[in-house]
Amino acid sequence: MNQNRRIVVTSLAAAAMSAGLPLPALAQKKIVLGFSQIGAESEWRTANTESIKSAAKEQGIDLKFSDAQQKQENQIKAIRSFIAQKVDVIAFSPVVESGWGTVLREAKAAKIPVILTDRAVNEKDESLWVTFMGSDFVEEGRKAGRWLLENYKATGDVNIVELQGTVGSAPAIDRKKGFEEIIKAQPRFKIIRSQTGDFTRAKGKEVMEAFLKAEGKKINVLYAHNDDMAIGAIQAIEEAGLKPAKDIIIISIDAVKGAFEAMMAGKLNVSIECSPLLGPQLMQAVKDLKAGKTLPKRIVTEESIFPMDVAAKEFPKRKY
Ligand code: AHR
Repeated sequence: MNQNRRIVVTSLAAAAMSAGLPLPALAQKKIVLGFSQIGAESEWRTANTESIKSAAKEQGIDLKFSDAQQKQENQIKAIRSFIAQKVDVIAFSPVVESGWGTVLREAKAAKIPVILTDRAVNEKDESLWVTFMGSDFVEEGRKAGRWLLENYKATGDVNIVELQGTVGSAPAIDRKKGFEEIIKAQPRFKIIRSQTGDFTRAKGKEVMEAFLKAEGKKINVLYAHNDDMAIGAIQAIEEAGLKPAKDIIIISIDAVKGAFEAMMAGKLNVSIECSPLLGPQLMQAVKDLKAGKTLPKRIVTEESIFPMDVAAKEFPKRKY
């Protein structure tokens, strides 16, 4: 900026302030947020990215967005680059729970606050992040388990196959834990096979094919840690000549539009909601931080359960 222009801008700002008016746009510095996203493995993740990008635009926050393509090393690189660029705030969704201590200490040493979104980290020192906003994944697993116990009517043993999310990720660990905690109350409900489908449709289909090959008609229930894997598995079940949601009861998590379509087609029994629409909350938290406010250490997203019989009524209201 040349000297004359600087003088004009400064005097405009001074005049606005003395008249009690907001500062002219030119005099306000945009908040810079560095965000490291996991990738684009699911319908959920795509909606989450869209929510973050559009909320940043609406709130006038300068977003530096980086896609890690499912790799922790890429997330660590992105965080280091945000530190080097001296962004105001760093936020990220950790692909796995462990291995973040060093880079988080680097951010702390650079005095850049870190917000965890969607997934937690497994680090003892909680001063390494200011807040963690997102779902309670253990509770989602419990909801899935409770729905099963309340709705499974046939008597005798119930053989469950489980499609887990990404190995080592918070939702995979917690959704398994919550579900098992509930079903152990009734020992006739047994998980006979459990394997990762990495939260993707392609892997969900592939692993379900292997489950069907090994167990065939013994399978009574599929518990999938997300809708995308359930949708892939539905294809495998149909290709094996079985009827999804009838021959095999299917429970999954997220409640994305694809799951509603499957429920309306009678192919998925229930989806437990996990909202990806974290953008507005994240931008508010960033602004609050810059305004010197203290954030709660944990911000939990409120969520519902959608069984097949409400799918058609709820579908038009779904935003992701
Ligand atoms: O962390 C949230 C999970 O990640 C969603 O359930 C899944 O679909 C996504 O990929």
